[in-house]
Amino acid sequence: MAEKKTLLILPGDGIGPEVMRETRRVIEWMGKRGRASFEITEDLVGGASIDARGVPITEETLAKARSADAVLFGAVGGPKWEKLGFHNRPEIAILRLRKELGLFANLRPAIVWEPLVGASTLKPDVVRGLNLVIVRESTGGIYFGEPRGIETLPSGEKRAFDTESYTTSEIERVGRVAFDLARKRQRRVCSVEKANVMQSGLFWRETISSLHEREFTDVELRHMYADNCAMQLVRNPQQFDVIVTSNIFGDLLSDLASMLTGSLGMLPSATLGQADASGRRPALYEPIHGSAPDIAGKGVANPLAQILSFAMLLRYSLNMDRDAGIIESACLNVLASGLRTADIMSPGTAKVGTSVMGEAILRELEKVAAQ
Ligand code: IPM
Ligand code: MG
Repeated sequence: MAEKKTLLILPGDGIGPEVMRETRRVIEWMGKRGRASFEITEDLVGGASIDARGVPITEETLAKARSADAVLFGAVGGPKWEKLGFHNRPEIAILRLRKELGLFANLRPAIVWEPLVGASTLKPDVVRGLNLVIVRESTGGIYFGEPRGIETLPSGEKRAFDTESYTTSEIERVGRVAFDLARKRQRRVCSVEKANVMQSGLFWRETISSLHEREFTDVELRHMYADNCAMQLVRNPQQFDVIVTSNIFGDLLSDLASMLTGSLGMLPSATLGQADASGRRPALYEPIHGSAPDIAGKGVANPLAQILSFAMLLRYSLNMDRDAGIIESACLNVLASGLRTADIMSPGTAKVGTSVMGEAILRELEKVAAQ
């Protein structure tokens, strides 16, 4: 068996622990079948960490994340912690992980699985076969830009401000991830900003264009304003292959794109940093659905996005394409068999809870692996 890989698992809050439980069964299955061997550490993050330790993430947990081969993250946040000060929100945990591990490229694939074509709110013809990826910049922009704050003006009125800012290198490195990814796909990149109203948008467009001319002329490049992109994603999503965009626009557009696939509960993501000289690349994998406090603890959450995030971890961090494919096939087969969690129900299918869905995936893993 190959050397042990170290995983840091951070289930977090809300439905995070429920969907992570099913994912751990998949991870254990891989170990038992001798496909891979993991050394797993589990730790607290978000509201769970605030309750136990007073902060959304401790320095120790950050250090563990830095030294792990990969981090598998659940979700953070919930009404219980909403009244905490701005700097002690559960969300700080994921923002610090991204920033301090240098995880600048957030890959958010939106894939429509054939059995779920009917689960989208859009017409089947519009979404059938959809397969796009949003590459969202995730350590810069307005999420981290300075200055930011709330001040009181001489008039006594208050003023709040945030800063959208991007440097050449920040844009180029995420651009390279997008162009490289496109080379393994349909070789089409759409770069998204608001160059018509924002200086940083204009600079983004110029920087991506110049990078394209210098290094990626074999890839087709288009530019699009973010508002138009939101409209085009609903009108004709199939026109996109890889979308590259800033932190804030990527946040918005990826939630939008998730609904093309039927449910936020289906979308995994990978957030990647820069590889070091030895080829080791910091990486975090998380479903994009968040903690879903409204359904937490009820055993009804869809575990697929979390399980598929683990499949992405195998593919991007451990070069285990074959095993990632086995997990994806097992998920597809379970959906094809008609089992559905509540979020992806459609007429004629059978509604199941989180753990029954997890069990069904384990059974399918056995079958697919035996083929
Ligand atoms: C996401 C989430 C986060 C973000 C929150 C939880 C800070 O919405 O990963 O899309 O805004 O980046
Ligand atoms: Mg978001």
